[in-house]
This record gives sequence, structure tokens and C-alpha cells, in this order.
Amino acid sequence: MSLLLIQGDITKLECDAIVNAANNSLLGGGGVDGAIHRAAGPKLLEECRALRGCDTGDAKLTAGYELKAKFVIHTVGPVWHGGAHGEEKLLRSCYSRSLKLAYDHNCESVAFPMISAGVYGYPFDQALEVAVSSISAFLNECDRDMTVYIVIFSRRDFRMDKNFFGSVRDFIDSRSAPKRFQGSFGFTRNAGAAPMASSAMLRCEAISDDACEDSSIEEFIRTRIDESFTQMLLRLIDEKGMSDVETYKRANIDRKLFSKIRSNMNYHPKKNTVLGFAIALRLDINETADLLMKAGYALSDSSRSDLVVEYFITNEIYDVNKVNQVLFAMDQEIIGQY
Ligand code: APR
Repeated sequence: MSLLLIQGDITKLECDAIVNAANNSLLGGGGVDGAIHRAAGPKLLEECRALRGCDTGDAKLTAGYELKAKFVIHTVGPVWHGGAHGEEKLLRSCYSRSLKLAYDHNCESVAFPMISAGVYGYPFDQALEVAVSSISAFLNECDRDMTVYIVIFSRRDFRMDKNFFGSVRDFIDSRSAPKRFQGSFGFTRNAGAAPMASSAMLRCEAISDDACEDSSIEEFIRTRIDESFTQMLLRLIDEKGMSDVETYKRANIDRKLFSKIRSNMNYHPKKNTVLGFAIALRLDINETADLLMKAGYALSDSSRSDLVVEYFITNEIYDVNKVNQVLFAMDQEIIGQY
């Protein structure tokens, strides 16, 4: 269950379905509509003719023909007239109708362009908010694994809620490197050491030097190793009274990856996967640092993406999609599965 923001040309994606921002005639046009018709070839237009148009807010499916995608879902977004003419409701309907068609055709991956945010003039940041909230609502209810991409054609277009983005940027710009992350958790991982060993070595540095001098590192690891990343994660899920499904959906992780983690007590996750769980479980900054340490990582003030996550956790904004919008805007790797 992942919602991923990516930058690129939707006609190049190898998804089960790509969504087209069409017009009511379904007979092609400019923008992404034109790009999809050009890439799919003339047979797409032939099939579209037979569909006899599409209402605004509705969606219709065709084959993908020469595209890598199996299907094209054509949806017609609202033209922006200031926001008081039912535009948001119609745009939400574009996403929900398209996702329903994708679900009914057993699609596991679907890619959306920013519907109505081009020629139709919908303000980009508001169109993004509608897209993210509509898709998240669908994925939360969906009983099957689906990965949904929001494809941003050009980073120049990307706009999010500027007040919110500004406060995150101010937080990052204002920060000097705090001692707390360099003192107790700062470490240079021994590149060759297995992740578990390095976090045990890390615990050695964080505990005291004499504890390391009195016994060999093997003895130290054998006697002192405590719960693994997976054990701590499962303990936190129980302590927070959450279900596995709720946890991985909120973390932007799909069921398959979660099952892999759950079934391997020594699983070594990517740092962004750990951060996704920290947001999902609503951990505070110290719990987050502990969970990261179990996987051999630490938050660092020299990492912009770590500072973005720290901003959200410190301000208790536990919304992985909002975190990802800011990370995307800053050209940083997004959280969760990718
Ligand atoms: N891949 C991904 N996104 C794209 C691509 C592409 N190849 N080309 C354009 N986009 C982006 C635009 O940058 C914009 O953010 O798609 C978003 C939607 O822009 P439009 O294509 O203009 O669609 P829309 O605003 O919904 O207007 C629809 O435009 O092309 C005509 O026939 C179409 O009349 C309809 C109207």
C-alpha cells in the first residue's frame, strides 16, 4: 500500500494502468492527453471514439496499445473557475472513479498525472492536496496491495502549501548541529561490519568504554545484545495498540515488505523504511532514535531529509504523505517503500 510521488513522463512508466487527463470528447488534445495518444498510437483514438465521450469527474478505461502500461484510464478533470463551482468534488471523483476502475481490472500499480493542474488551471498545491487525500482514503480502505504513483512532470510545477513548506524550511535553516545527536548516537559505522554488529558496537560507545575493555566484543555482543529491530518494531506496534495493517499502511509500506520484516528477526531495513514506521507509530524523537539505532542508523543534522522528519516528529504531525511532499519539494528521497 504505497502512495509515491515521482518526477517523470507518465508515458514511459511500466505500470498496470496510467491515467490520462482527458477532455469530455476523449478525442485527444494537448498536455498529457496528447503525450499519451502519441505514445499509444492510433488504435487508442479508435477505441476512444467508440466510448462516445466522458463526463467531467467520470473515468473510462481502454487498452494501452503501444504504451508500456496495460491500460489507460481516461478521466476528465474540472476546469478551475475559482473553486466555488464544485471543482474539488469533481476532481475527487476523477481519482475515486479511476481507482475503482483500476481495482476492478486487478491493477496492482496505477500512475496519475496532476489532473486539472495544467490547461484546466486548478492551483497546483490544491490539486496536489486533493490527489494525495483522495488516493490515501482509497488505499486505507483497499483490501488489496496497490501502489499508486503521482507523477510530477516538471519539478518547476511542484507547489505545495507554501506556509507549511516555509515553516519546515525555516526549521531546517535555523538548525545548527545539536550535540544530542553527535554525543550519544554519533558513530561511524564500520563499513565491513554487519549492521547488527555495528549497532551493538554503537551500544558499546553509548554505554561506557570500560564495559568494552573488560570483555571481548564477541562476549559483549553475546551478553548484551537486546531486542532486534524487528522485535522492537513488533513490541511498539503492540504497545501503541495498533494492528499490523494499520501500521504498514500509515508507514507507506506494502504488505509484502511488512511480512518480510515480521518473519525475519534480523531483518535490516532501509533507513527511510524505519522512518516510515516512526511516523506511523507516532514515535517521539528519542523513540525514533532508538528504533533507528536498532537498524544501525541515526538521525543526523547534516541530513536535510532527517531534519524534515525531525520537524514533523517534533511538531507531532504524523502524516507520511505530508512528509513526502516536503521531501519531494526538496529533491530528497521519500519515506516508505520506493
Ligand atoms: N507525464 C506526466 N505529466 C504530464 C505530462 C507527461 N508526459 N505532460 C504534462 N503533464 C502534466 C502537466 O505538467 C500538468 O501538471 O500533467 C498535468 C495536467 O496538465 P494537462 O495535460 O494540461 O491536463 P489538464 O490540466 O487536466 O487539462 C486537460 O488539456 O490536454 C488537454 O485534452 C486535454 O482538454 C484537456 C485538458
